[in-house]
Amino acid sequence: MVLLKELEALGWGAWRQELEALLSEKQRFITQVDGNARRLLPLLDRLPQLDEVEIDLDADMIRIGTREDLDPQQREELREILMEFRHWRKGPFNIFGVEIDSEWRSDLKWNRIKDQIAPLAGRRILDVGSSCGYYLMRMAASKPRLALGLEPYAPFYCQYLLLQRLIDEPSVHCLPVKLEELPAMSGCFDSIFHMGVLSHQRSPIDALKQLAGMLRKGGELVLETLIVEGEGEWAFCPPKRYAKMHNVFFLPTVTCLQGWLERAGFENVRCIDQTWTSSEEQRQTEWIKSESLSDFLDPDNPRKTAEGHPAPLRAVLLAERR
Ligand SMILES: C[S@@+](CC[C@H](N)C(=O)[O-])C[C@H]1O[C@@H](n2cnc3c(N)ncnc32)[C@H](O)[C@@H]1O
Repeated sequence: MVLLKELEALGWGAWRQELEALLSEKQRFITQVDGNARRLLPLLDRLPQLDEVEIDLDADMIRIGTREDLDPQQREELREILMEFRHWRKGPFNIFGVEIDSEWRSDLKWNRIKDQIAPLAGRRILDVGSSCGYYLMRMAASKPRLALGLEPYAPFYCQYLLLQRLIDEPSVHCLPVKLEELPAMSGCFDSIFHMGVLSHQRSPIDALKQLAGMLRKGGELVLETLIVEGEGEWAFCPPKRYAKMHNVFFLPTVTCLQGWLERAGFENVRCIDQTWTSSEEQRQTEWIKSESLSDFLDPDNPRKTAEGHPAPLRAVLLAERR
């Protein structure tokens, strides 16, 4: 794995042994145990192999190659392979003329944050819960030193492998591991993105403390998560499901979230955006096989979830490591 070779240059030699052991176990799991990965990995060898491919990472719809690079039959084969990698939750992408209209318009979130965060050029970035790597690739357009993703769910990790096979972006890497499985990696990152993950974590303050430990002093956290409207320091704990998800644990108010961040070791905490999730941003397309936002909401009242809870409202907070 290229990343391991680069560890010394990054000054991460101290974590080498632990990372090597973790990654070799994950490699074994992905290649020998996980059924989805074992089905998907051989398909990577059937992707088009061209000497030169025009890439545009700095576009709302990331573009890999052009329609003219393939003949109609090759394009149809590519489309079939891409369909095998469903669900495409994050995107969109245009790959040799095949448009992946993913469930989420991830460009909308990126456009809400990109001009408000610390410039990414030259930085060592961690993106926790990077899914297929849409944001990693958008970050790479700013020429960071490293954009490292973590994506433990094998089908999304395989989507990343597919995209990286075509894009071959040397600053981007992704590990199929959970945040809490990583060694301490104290002070290793200049920027950490933690978007859409906190509500799924049973111990959100522990997760934030871990992130603070991984940032260098003054490094920036970009935190995006589900919140609830209201004043005061409290969080809503859905009793069972939230918007049909069984793994949502805490939805704090912004004030509560600011308090969590300060307790975890951050300062200069500020909320830069609050957005109700709309069906422009999250909707069913042919690239996912499951339900989407309109199925998760009360059909008679879009400000409520199917269970009668407040509808999805997401906030972005920026904070610096003290
Ligand atoms: C709701 S998606 C958000 C994806 C992306 N960050 C975004 O904002 O659009 C959450 C992602 O985090 C991953 N994830 C869940 N728990 C995680 C953990 N403990 N560590 C790292 N990634 C995790 C999931 O597999 C999923 O891809």
